Amino acid sequence: MAVRMEVQEFQSPAVLVPVEFDVVMPGDGEVLIRVQAAGVNPFDWKYVEGLSGRGAPTEFPIVPGNEVAGYVDAVGAGVTTVGMGDEVIWHGFLGGYASHLIVKATAVRPKPESIGFAEAASIPVAGGTAWAAINQAGVGKGDRVLIHGAAGGLGGFGIQIARNLNAHVIGTASAANHDYVRQLGAEPVEYGDGLEDRARAIGPVTAVVDFVGSAETIAATVALLPDLSRAITTAASPASTAAGITPVARDPKSVPSAIDLVGRGYVTVDVSRTMSIRNAERAFAESRTGHTRGKIVLIA
Ligand SMILES: NC(=O)c1ccc[n+]([C@@H]2O[C@H](COP(=O)([O-])OP(=O)(O)OC[C@H]3O[C@@H](n4cnc5c(N)ncnc54)[C@H](OP(=O)(O)O)[C@@H]3O)[C@@H](O)[C@H]2O)c1
Repeated sequence: MAVRMEVQEFQSPAVLVPVEFDVVMPGDGEVLIRVQAAGVNPFDWKYVEGLSGRGAPTEFPIVPGNEVAGYVDAVGAGVTTVGMGDEVIWHGFLGGYASHLIVKATAVRPKPESIGFAEAASIPVAGGTAWAAINQAGVGKGDRVLIHGAAGGLGGFGIQIARNLNAHVIGTASAANHDYVRQLGAEPVEYGDGLEDRARAIGPVTAVVDFVGSAETIAATVALLPDLSRAITTAASPASTAAGITPVARDPKSVPSAIDLVGRGYVTVDVSRTMSIRNAERAFAESRTGHTRGKIVLIA
């Protein structure tokens, strides 16, 4: 029996209810995905709890989840780009916390054979957004880029993508994550009181990518970066905008580029935690702490 995790009313913290449903056949231009893994992102709980910046949702039920990896189980009329049994990655808006999902064929991409489903389901949101932010900041050879939030989902991708562009990376994290950040290729620096001085002691920075968006990261960015046109945030707020830090923009190249980098082995994906899709509420609780490492993935 197919199951999806529904948020049925506006509540904080959100309650997720497993609901069984009958699988129907995909319509014209659609495919049915038998989900193997669904990526968890802070947006998933922020959206249903009215904290995403889009206001409180008014229509329920909502099935969270913007990225999955799985097998194509059926194809609708007119679909020529994917076939039965193909291993694919989907990126879209809501619906991913489910064992089966019908989506537009144009929204799926081939899963690289070299990686597993959990890794594949982790790429679109974190990998795609990190790729977009690093590229929007114009990071390249000779740069010294400061990444705020280096140990999280976006951080792991951001460090490796910047290193692939031959930049030197300084990554902020708590002391417990310094070895981890170092392994990913960045020079760690502890956040908290004195961040600006510690970062300055490491040397000048030429670009900043902020995956945190706190008052501290905004102040440090403004103090450390002479050219704020090279400061990009994925956690934009009125304060970051007032400070002159640019929000990350959508880039159609970002998701395919991130998938390609992982598929070719230039970037690895750290899935720090997997749990059953039925435990999505626990995944929300862990993500809500703001201190998870790498990616949390739900297994369908
Ligand atoms: N605009 C978009 O399209 C878009 C897309 C994806 C994500 N986002 C946003 O981008 C942000 C990052 O997403 P994510 O998935 O990477 O989140 P995440 O995985 O939940 O980030 C957790 C990490 O943040 C670190 N952290 C917490 N507070 C910190 C601080 N003050 N300074 C430095 N590091 C700190 C933690 O490190 P320690 O454990 O060492 O403290 C932890 O490793 C979120 O706000 C998310 O909503 C936006």
